Amino acid sequence: MAMQILVYPIFFASVVATLLSSAAMAQPNLGLPDLQLEDNPSVVSLGQKLFFDRRLSFNNTLSCAMCHIPEQGFAQNQLQTSVGFEGQVTERNAPTLLNVGLYQTLFYDGREFSLENQIWSPLLADREMANPSMGWVIEQLQGMDDYEDQFALFSEGLTASTLGQALAAYQRSLIAANSPFDRWYFLGDQSAVSEQVKQGFAQFKRLGCADCHLVLENEAPFTDQQFHNTGIGYHRSMGNGSGPRSFVVGGTRTITTLERFDDRRSNDLGRYEATQDPQDRWKFRTPSLRNVALTAPYMHDGTLPTLGAVIDFYAQGGFQAPGQDPRIRTLSLPVEQRAQLEAFLKSLTSDEVGRLIALARNKSNP
Ligand code: HEC
Ligand code: HEC
Repeated sequence: MAMQILVYPIFFASVVATLLSSAAMAQPNLGLPDLQLEDNPSVVSLGQKLFFDRRLSFNNTLSCAMCHIPEQGFAQNQLQTSVGFEGQVTERNAPTLLNVGLYQTLFYDGREFSLENQIWSPLLADREMANPSMGWVIEQLQGMDDYEDQFALFSEGLTASTLGQALAAYQRSLIAANSPFDRWYFLGDQSAVSEQVKQGFAQFKRLGCADCHLVLENEAPFTDQQFHNTGIGYHRSMGNGSGPRSFVVGGTRTITTLERFDDRRSNDLGRYEATQDPQDRWKFRTPSLRNVALTAPYMHDGTLPTLGAVIDFYAQGGFQAPGQDPRIRTLSLPVEQRAQLEAFLKSLTSDEVGRLIALARNKSNP
């Protein structure tokens, strides 16, 4: 009798645990809103092939994946801002493409609205893939037998529009939610995260971080899709951190940046560059914080190297720059609470990432 009483709760707990973990497995998007995905797997794999193809750049050296590196959170961990065509430095840090289907506007300044159209920015930017025109890109791809066959799956064949559709389909498939935080917060699994993480989430709300990095009742996008002045852009425009720099890429190659590009970079006006509205100067789109532990360095210019540095930045009240959002103000934040906040941010790393990297590299198992 006594044994049975003991056995039942254990049995029940293990059934609940199994249900929880299979629910979690079945839901890579746990914690995200439902996103529209491409149904046809052939379109997704065509998009993936294009994403990794260096022939998409003018001199056949640079693929999308070389700036959005799967193993580096589909971002770039070694560079503050990307290096593109012939070693030229871009103005901004390469953002992660994990969960990119979430955004209503694209780029730090929100100048694009769909992944289908977005591709023309990197394909044509003279410091990125440096193609001379849209027609040029289509013409090159049409001359490649492998693509001619694969684009036959669209009735109109290879066009600017179907090229956009394929690349968009692959990027939308990079869904990486279902983090320990989600299993705790949305499924009630108390053991999914530590006590420190739970405290960190309480700090995150108390300090007003969730005002901009939204957590809603049924989903947690960690972005409000809006543009804010955190002080970073202004600080940079005052000449902080500019000048030529050297990087070691891939542990071996050293690249030294050209000074003239830093000059332009120091005047990054963010949202203003899309709207020309003086109110929008130095405003940047709130990034989602999902998988943020994988995507250092941080902010649009990559000037904050670690999550600890980001937390210190917020604690000191940003740069107290003109027009800075009033919610970014000096915080009283003892060391212990900073550690809690950091632990919370690290709990936002999705269990799906290993699978997405393996798929990206065409390996069946992570
Ligand atoms: C030279 C490096 C580089 C290459 C090559 C590159 N990107 Fe990017 N990507 C960036 C940078 C830097 C940004 C941020 C630019 C900005 O906000 O103005 C970005 C932004 C994006 C965004 C917007 C993400 C967001 O959060 O809004 C998407 C989507 C994207 N890239 C997809 C691609 C695709 C698809 C390709 C290939 C066709 C590609 N990128 C090639 C560096 C690169
Ligand atoms: C007023 C809105 C707002 C508030 C409040 C806010 N953030 Fe942010 N956060 C932003 C914006 C905008 C950026 C991007 C700034 C940029 O790119 O220069 C950002 C960037 C970040 C990043 C870097 C993400 C990346 O991928 O580069 C982290 C981490 C972060 N915030 C955490 C926090 C934490 C923790 C708090 C609370 C202490 C907080 N934020 C409060 C708007 C806000």
